[in-house]
Formats: sequence, structure tokens, C-alpha cells
Amino acid sequence: MLISFEGIDGCGKSTQSRLLADVLTAEGREVVLTREPGGSPGAEEIRRLLVEGAGERWSPETECLLFTAARRDHMERLIRPALDAGRTVVTDRFADSTRVYQGAARGDLRVLVDQLHGLMIGTEPARTFVIDIDPETGLARGQARGGTEDRFESLGLEFQQRLARGFRALAAEYPERVRLIDGRGTPEQVAARVRQAL
Ligand code: TYD
Repeated sequence: MLISFEGIDGCGKSTQSRLLADVLTAEGREVVLTREPGGSPGAEEIRRLLVEGAGERWSPETECLLFTAARRDHMERLIRPALDAGRTVVTDRFADSTRVYQGAARGDLRVLVDQLHGLMIGTEPARTFVIDIDPETGLARGQARGGTEDRFESLGLEFQQRLARGFRALAAEYPERVRLIDGRGTPEQVAARVRQAL
């Protein structure tokens, strides 16, 4: 089974991906924990092009192509072989990030994102958990973390608000697959909500 975690910057989904992978491993499953952009050596190289540098470094179209190229490599080298071997794959971000981030950057790009996804990826997770927090909290956490991977955080609060709306809309668009998880409280409280939803 492929499970993805999604949400705005600083929502806590990386912690939640790890906690779910730990729980499923303890329950006796073989679990592969991975992330996007990245997850395979080639995709990690593309990641650096995407998360570093100026906010306007790439056009939204070029950005879609780079994220899709990274995802294709991640699928070929890591996700598909793991699923074929019967493992459970937990990924910190997947195609919904492209739908929301690149779709939010420019509304009419959603069609292009879905077309590229259909052509090059074609797989949806069995379940997707969107960790839902308010954008002020997320942005403050992301900025407190520091580092050089702040290209999307540098686009500001208004952008994060648009993203939060985008993820909530996605949960309404795919009610079977996408579950909105209240991201408030301790990591353990949020993890319990995720495990129950799964
Ligand atoms: P990530 O490493 O998950 O950052 P964070 O831990 O801060 O959430 O992702 C890096 C950035 O890339 C993040 O701001 C979201 C963005 N992104 C997209 O815009 N489109 C995509 O398809 C993906 C996977 C990520």
C-alpha cells in the first residue's frame, strides 16, 4: 500500500510520516519511509534545483516538469519496486503537492499537472493524510527551522493561506482517498488521529 502525507510548509507531516512508519513496522509490516521532492539519488539532485534559490527562479510550467521528473525517478527506482515486493510505502509528499503548490501558484495549471501525472506517474496513493494547521503556525515553524530550503516559505503568508485552502479542497474532491487530519496538539495526539483514520 502507498500512503502519502500532505500539507502546507511546517504542518508536521514529516514527523507524522515517521511516526506512522514506526507504528506500522511495530505491527509487523515491512515499511519504506521516503519523501518528495527526492527519495532516490536522481530525484534528490532535482530537489536541490527546486527548493533552493529565489522564489521566482522557475516558471510554474518548468516547476511542474521538474517535480514530475523527480517523481518519475522516485517511482521507477524506489516506490514501484517496494510495492512490487509487497512493502508498505509511506511518503512525505506526493502528487497532491504538485496539484496544490503548482496549481496554487497559477490556477489554470491544474489541468497541466493532471495531464503530466496521467502520462508519467499514473499511480495514486491508497490513502492520503493532509495535516491541517493554520498557515500562521506553519510558516512560523518553517521559518524557525532556518536552512537554505526556504524557496516556497519565502513566498509568504498569503501563499501559505492559498495552499491551505487548496489542500482542504482536495480532501473534498477525493473523499475516499484524502483525509483531513486536525494537526493541533502534540505529535502523539496527531499520530493517534492518523492511525485511527487509517
Ligand atoms: P518539503 O521537503 O516537504 O518541505 P517541508 O518539510 O518544509 O514541507 O518540500 C519542499 C518544498 O517543495 C515545499 O515547500 C513544497 C514544495 N513542493 C512543491 O511545490 N510541489 C511538489 O510537487 C512537491 C513534492 C513539493
